[in-house]
Amino acid sequence: MAMVMDIGVDLGTASVVIHGKGKGSVLNEPAVIAFDRDTRNVLAVGEDAHSMLGRTPGNIQVMRPLAEGMIADFDLASAMLRYFVTKVSGKHLIGGPRVLLSVPQGVNESERHQLISALFEAGARRTYIMERPVAAALGAGLPIGDASGQMICDIGGGMTEIAVLSMGRMVVREIVKIGGDAFDDAIIRYLRRKHNFFVGPLTAEDLKITIGSAIARNEQFYMEVTGRNLLTGLPKLMRITSDEITEALENPLQELLEAIHGVLEHTPAELVADIYDSGMVLTGGGAMLSGLCEAIRLSLKVECRLAEEPQECTARGCCMILENWQDMSKFLASKKRR
Ligand SMILES: Nc1ncnc2c1ncn2[C@@H]1O[C@H](COP(=O)(O)OP(=O)(O)O)[C@@H](O)[C@H]1O
Ligand SMILES: [Mg+2]
Repeated sequence: MAMVMDIGVDLGTASVVIHGKGKGSVLNEPAVIAFDRDTRNVLAVGEDAHSMLGRTPGNIQVMRPLAEGMIADFDLASAMLRYFVTKVSGKHLIGGPRVLLSVPQGVNESERHQLISALFEAGARRTYIMERPVAAALGAGLPIGDASGQMICDIGGGMTEIAVLSMGRMVVREIVKIGGDAFDDAIIRYLRRKHNFFVGPLTAEDLKITIGSAIARNEQFYMEVTGRNLLTGLPKLMRITSDEITEALENPLQELLEAIHGVLEHTPAELVADIYDSGMVLTGGGAMLSGLCEAIRLSLKVECRLAEEPQECTARGCCMILENWQDMSKFLASKKRR
């Protein structure tokens, strides 16, 4: 029998990322599940379910079980989690992997315990829970054990978690429901208002990723997308510029900047001084928005850098704990086990 691989799991609002001990990234798929409304049978999970978005007949629903950082449907959330964990580590009746799971803060204590039980049923030998910002900071390479202030801003799909850490603990923590989804929604609203042009969420996300920028660029980019002309009801091809997307993103971006500002305001002076020296770090898929660090620098006068492979940081951080258990298990939220 193959050796059991211990895994770090980032259960996000938009994606599930899994790192294997000594292996690096082993899974990165949309946190999406498709099911039959009538029978509640699960039809597809991850990539397969994602490609059904907006294309299903009435009795089939595609959903993100953790859309806003809270568990919208517990059965579907645990079915999705079990599916992914089994996909990377196979089926085990006993002696399965140790799992280090990171969940959004909106998942409450009793739900955390239920997720642990769900993983236990899926064969996990033990499951430990890790606070997301701590995992993200660790995975981004921050020296979280040091007695100095470190600031992390993890921008996901449905939400952003902002935290200041010192000595491996969170000193200040804030959550806002602004993430990549809010940016996509803002693009949809903007195009409808300005051009009577309606695009779907996947197209809006495509625009954001391809030509979007948090600050106006010197060079203009543009992209042609298909949507619906709301005046005629017919499909239409339109050329959208990067400046338009920057304008569309203004409101959610402002809200995000205010939330970061709020965290800095509530951070003890010594730690703020550390952060001004060493800068804050962005993680999460949403952090890849072009120009975001510049926007933070310009508006908050604090240094900012984007972590390497930002979307992988949380799962990587979880896995680092498994790889250095002796020194690092002290960073876990709780060592309660099942
Ligand atoms: N290159 C990019 N530029 C801007 N946003 C991006 C880029 N790549 C991914 N995203 C956004 O990242 C978000 C997902 O981030 P992720 O960390 O996977 O979310 P979560 O941790 O909540 O599951 C989505 O909104 C997606 O559109
Ligand atoms: Mg993430």
